Amino acid sequence: MAVKALKGFKDIIPGEVETWQFIEQTARSIFQRFGFSEIKVPILEKTKLFTRSIGETTDIVEKEMYTFPDRNGSSLTMRPEGTAPVLRAYIENGLYAVKPVQKLYTIGPMFRHERPQKGRLRQFHQMSVEVLGTDKPWLDADVMAMAWQILRELGLTASLEINSLGCKACRPSFNKALLDFLDQAQGLCDDCLRRRQTNPLRVLDCKSSNCQEQYAQAPSILDFLCDGCRDHFTTVKEGLELLSVPYKVNSFMVRGLDYYTRTTFELVTSDLGAQSAVGAGGRYDGLVKQLGGPDVPGIGFALGVERLVLLLDQLGKGGSRPHVDLFIAALGSQAQEKAFVLTNILRANGLSVAMDLMDRSLKNQMKQAGKAGARYALILGEQELENGEAVLRNMETHDQENVVIKEDIELWSEEFAHITH
Ligand code: HAM
Repeated sequence: MAVKALKGFKDIIPGEVETWQFIEQTARSIFQRFGFSEIKVPILEKTKLFTRSIGETTDIVEKEMYTFPDRNGSSLTMRPEGTAPVLRAYIENGLYAVKPVQKLYTIGPMFRHERPQKGRLRQFHQMSVEVLGTDKPWLDADVMAMAWQILRELGLTASLEINSLGCKACRPSFNKALLDFLDQAQGLCDDCLRRRQTNPLRVLDCKSSNCQEQYAQAPSILDFLCDGCRDHFTTVKEGLELLSVPYKVNSFMVRGLDYYTRTTFELVTSDLGAQSAVGAGGRYDGLVKQLGGPDVPGIGFALGVERLVLLLDQLGKGGSRPHVDLFIAALGSQAQEKAFVLTNILRANGLSVAMDLMDRSLKNQMKQAGKAGARYALILGEQELENGEAVLRNMETHDQENVVIKEDIELWSEEFAHITH
C-alpha cells in the first residue's frame, strides 16, 4: 500500500500554492514597507526554550509539542510557534547591540499535536513578526495596523479584538480576585477545576457553555490595571483610532501562551467555523530577559497561513493559474529544433515560455497553450519556416501578426520584448 502523509500534515500542491505565494508576497511587501527584516530560524530547538517561554502549564507545552530525545538523549522539540526561536536567535546573535529596535519577521511551518479539523493542522504555517527594544504604546498600534493592512491587501476582513493583561505589578491582584470568584462558581468543568490550580487566567478561555455563562460575571482584568498599564492601554487605543483601525475591547481574551504582558490582540472571523483566529499576538515585556538576554521589551503577532488560504478560497479569490508569457507551438522536426532553442533563449531573457515536446498536432498544442494560460502563442510550422516567418497570436484578442525569422536566433528575442508584463 502507498505510504500516506501523516494526519494533520498537508501537501500544498500546484493550484493551491499560488494562493500561498500571493499571501506571502503580499505580506513580505508590507513587512518591508513597515521596516521589518526577515530572519530564518531552525525548526528544531531544545525543549527548554519552549517550556521556559510558553509556560509549563499551557496546553501547548502540556500536550501539543512534538518532543523527542535526540540520539544523545537531550530533549528536542519541533517549534510550536515562532516567538521563542526568534528571541533565542536575537539574544544568541547579539542583535540588540546592532540596532536598538529590531523589527523581525519569519515565515515557516510550526508543529502542534492538536486534533486536526478545518483550519487546524498539526503542521501549519505562520507569518510571524517580533519588534524588540521599545515599549512605546504607539508601536503596539502600529504593529496591529500592519496586521490589519495585510488582511486589507489580501481582500479579507476580520475584527480586531484587544485586551490588556497587565504586568507583574497588577496581574497578581487580578489573579486573586479571579480565584475568589472561581471559589464561588458552581459546576465548573474538569479542565477549569485543574486550571484554577495551575493557571487561573486560562479558565476564561474555556469553551464549555456552563463555564462561559458563569465567567460573564467574572472580574475584568481591565479594572485591576496599575496606572502604567492603564495609561499604556489608553494610548494604544488612541493610536488605533489615529490610524483608523477599528477594534473592539474584549476583556475576557486571554492568550494560550504565558509570556504576554499588557497589550494582547486577536484577529477573529466567524467564517472559519470553530477556528476563529486568523492571527494573534501581543506584548511580552520581560521575555527576552527570562530567556537570558537583556531586559528589552517586545511585541509581535503571527498570522495563520492555512486560515488565510481558507478565507480567500471561500471568497473565490484563491488559486490562480501560473502565468505563461508565450507558448511556442512547433510542427515538424526543423521547426521543433528552432522552438527548442528559442524557448531556452527567451527564458534566459526573462520571459516565461512553454513548448510542447510531445509531437502533438497544432490543434492540440493550441489547447495546451490555452490550458497553460499563455498570453501569446508563437506558431512555427514548416510553411512559416520556409517563408522566413512565424505567427504570433494574442491569445486573448486572437489578433495575429507575422514575425520575421532572423538568421541569428538570438536576434529573435527582440521581437518578443514587448510581450512581457
Ligand atoms: P498563537 O495564537 O498560538 O500565537 O498562533 C497564532 C496564529 O497561528 C493563530 O491565530 C492561528 O491563525 C495560527 N494557528 C495556531 N495554531 C494552529 C493550528 N494548529 N493550525 C492552523 N493554524 C494555527 C503564537 O503562536 C504567537 N507566537 C504569536 C506571537 C508572535 N505573539 C507574539 N509574537
